[in-house]
Amino acid sequence: MTAGRGETLSGAAAPTRLRCENNVDPLGIDALQPRLSWQLSDGRRGVRQTAYELQVASSGDGLARGEADRWSTGRVEAADSLVVYDGAPLGSRDGCWWRVRTWDADGAATPWSDAAHFEVGLVRPFNFPAYSDWRATLIRSAVVGTRTDGVPAPFMRRQFTVPGDVVSARLYITAQGLYEAWINGRRVGHDRHRPGWTDYRIRLPYQTHDVTDLVANGDNAIGAILGDGWFCGHVAIAGGRQGYGDRPGLFAQLEIEVAGEDERLVIATDADWLTTTGPILSSDNYLGEHHDARLELPGWSEAGMDTTAWEPVQLGAPILAGLVATVAPPVRAVAELRPVAQWESAPGVHVFDLGQNMVGHVRLRVAGAPAGTTIQLRHAEVLDADGRTIWTANLHRAIATDSYTCRGDAVETWEPRFTFHGFRYVEVTGHPGTPSLDDVTGVVVHSAMTPTGEFECSNALISRLYQNIVWSWRGNSVDLPTDCPQRYERLGWTGDIAMFARTAVFLEDAQEFLRKWIHDLIDSQIVGGVEDGQFPTVAPRSSRWGGGPAWADAAVFVPWALYTAYGDTTTLTEIYPALQRWMGYLAREEAGRAPGSWIGFGDWVSLDTDPDNPLGPDDRWGGTSLAFLRDAFRAHATDLVGRIADVIGRRHDAAEWFEVADRRRRAFVTAHVVDGRLAEPTQTGCTLALTFDLLPDAASRQAVGEDLAKDVESRGHLVTGFVGTPWLLHALERAGRLDLAYQLIEREELPGWLYPVTQGATTMWERWDAWTPERGFHPSGMNSFNHYAYGAVGHWLHRTIGGLDIDDERPGSGRLRIAPRPGGSIRSGRAALQTTSGAASCAWELADGRMQLAFTIPPNRSATVLLPARSTHAVVGSLADVDGVSDLRSVDGFVAFEAAAGSYELTIADPVVA
Ligand code: BGC
Repeated sequence: MTAGRGETLSGAAAPTRLRCENNVDPLGIDALQPRLSWQLSDGRRGVRQTAYELQVASSGDGLARGEADRWSTGRVEAADSLVVYDGAPLGSRDGCWWRVRTWDADGAATPWSDAAHFEVGLVRPFNFPAYSDWRATLIRSAVVGTRTDGVPAPFMRRQFTVPGDVVSARLYITAQGLYEAWINGRRVGHDRHRPGWTDYRIRLPYQTHDVTDLVANGDNAIGAILGDGWFCGHVAIAGGRQGYGDRPGLFAQLEIEVAGEDERLVIATDADWLTTTGPILSSDNYLGEHHDARLELPGWSEAGMDTTAWEPVQLGAPILAGLVATVAPPVRAVAELRPVAQWESAPGVHVFDLGQNMVGHVRLRVAGAPAGTTIQLRHAEVLDADGRTIWTANLHRAIATDSYTCRGDAVETWEPRFTFHGFRYVEVTGHPGTPSLDDVTGVVVHSAMTPTGEFECSNALISRLYQNIVWSWRGNSVDLPTDCPQRYERLGWTGDIAMFARTAVFLEDAQEFLRKWIHDLIDSQIVGGVEDGQFPTVAPRSSRWGGGPAWADAAVFVPWALYTAYGDTTTLTEIYPALQRWMGYLAREEAGRAPGSWIGFGDWVSLDTDPDNPLGPDDRWGGTSLAFLRDAFRAHATDLVGRIADVIGRRHDAAEWFEVADRRRRAFVTAHVVDGRLAEPTQTGCTLALTFDLLPDAASRQAVGEDLAKDVESRGHLVTGFVGTPWLLHALERAGRLDLAYQLIEREELPGWLYPVTQGATTMWERWDAWTPERGFHPSGMNSFNHYAYGAVGHWLHRTIGGLDIDDERPGSGRLRIAPRPGGSIRSGRAALQTTSGAASCAWELADGRMQLAFTIPPNRSATVLLPARSTHAVVGSLADVDGVSDLRSVDGFVAFEAAAGSYELTIADPVVA
């Protein structure tokens, strides 16, 4: 490619990773001003973008010729690599091709990038003919289950004729319940559990599939199988089944462009579809799925099938919810695990160990079983005290049992479609022989986010801890962030993700996944019969409960974590009106004019509990009073609302929120600080007061830091629950007691993060003491072995041991923070992150009294570097002469500087080790 007139080429490669709405070449977006982003691929030291040019065309060929008929920005002097489309108005079905080139600091241009593509979906969101792109009608079967029992999964189909060659075809599809679509005997796409879980009363996401290759000139058939899913299957708290409706329904529109025809051929769900039941006897997220292969319907989604036994569908009422394009990444089968062991726990009871607590389902293979043989699969996270039998008491009413009845083929393979389980062990019964390791495969299923973060260090247990955090995050991201994936719950608990968001955004590109959940949270504020402005305990909302301190605060923590990690203000803007309503609610409550509809969970599952009164007088849990937590979170949240208002340009609002935050901080001090110290100097109390900057002055911060250290020292361990744990190590570090933070993280005994690891845990436990050698399993009914909340320590691991983080003092600036702080017995650490600008990393090693440090800052970014060096003289070679290093200074006795993009290697003599 050549440069434009008078351009110099930089010699750098063209921009890469072009994304629209954070997706590669998405189909069916409904943002009419989509976000377009790219990365530079230029490894030169200090490289930064000074300008860009973007071209958007309605055809790929046109774009290649430079005919940017939709939008051409010309050269724009800016460092941004995220731009909001502002060209010719877009409408339903519009396809766009786009490309970008950039200029560097010397004014030299890159070549044009390869072309990327996006296509708009059906943007008129209502199911009313006059206003809508949709010609579909909701179709359902006549068969209805009850509040307690499901019915066989309906199959739906329709045959149609295409009168010519197919130019292109799109399937726009969603369901009340879950769907799996098929055309001409072939499955459409690979997604599972579509359309996912939203508050179906408000928002129903649809998906767009390119099915050009699946339809053809002549006779065709389209079909779908429906599952109950979250729509009419069991959802805890709501109580029983049918939380949103009594049966599943399908809503779909196949649009085919036929050669030589002016009008698109549209096959929409309508009265011409037929329905029947087949092999899926029942399916439910908690209960499992039962499949009788003798009832399969060969050819059910192909043309020419004999449909005499099929019934006409029933038409449902118009869908009142907004039909919105899917935002979240699809749930998919992302990995497979082969069992590492198997045994017979009793005659005919075969137990398989997958070696990893995972979420998804089992693929079963059976050879030589006579027709009618029913094989049952039960799932469990752990084994009972005998070490051989599966233990399922912690699943509550989620019996997590699948079954498969054989049709009698020589070899049969089956996996469920509409259920998922959290398990490491699988119990197989009813097998006619002895199943082998090849017969059971663990299929790992979750929202397919791109992994972005890595961490390891010389302490193998801590490295394993990090992997456990990753697995718990994956297992709890089946379309929405949940508390746990196994028991009768699996809900979008607000407090859990509030605490974990800052870790999540490092582990994976969670931007659109969490943005989708923020939409759920926004919706949840205005349903449930308590529309008072408070955010709930769970989103989508399935109870009247309002969230208490730390739970409702997900509304600020999650969007702020997204903004910090990805520098994108979209979610902040989207949630801001809901935050205003929330602040209004808090003000009314403070003035005694709101009933206080929230429920507080205190410092949930903390060990800091009065044994005689575990729930305390006004506490749900933990030694830190609810009044303390309420006042602390309120002040901090208000400050964050102010910062959010500021970032999205609501400066006047921001100033007001900052005033309110000040007032709330003062109220906190009046109520909870006595002579500079906390009236409740619990570990969680001190941690929050320090982290949220609630204390009146430096002397008070010092005193509270000392009290925190004293408590940790005297106990020798942590006692914090969900609420204090995420910030405990940060707070100790800030209080100048990094040594104690290292003691806590390296502690292998109960309670501490490594205790479960020493017990063979492969995911994070809900409780510090979920299992102890003396007592066995915790007596509470709630004892999950896959809860990410305590995994919030992941943030501290990659930040302090790994030495890599986003600079959250300047969120949105894209600046990174490189600041490894060695301590304890740890001799080396490494963290890496795929940022929106490319790869960043930091790795260090201690040897012979020196620290070797290597770090990389991606193009168009910079970093604040804090070296554990006592002075600049301790850095071997002259830092001041290193290209890309500026603003060399001393911060808190350490060497600090700003570093431009590029890779660096340094040696520090006699480094500071905690
Ligand atoms: C969930 C938690 C949740 C809590 C509320 C539990 O049952 O599993 O993770 O935050 O309830 O305290």
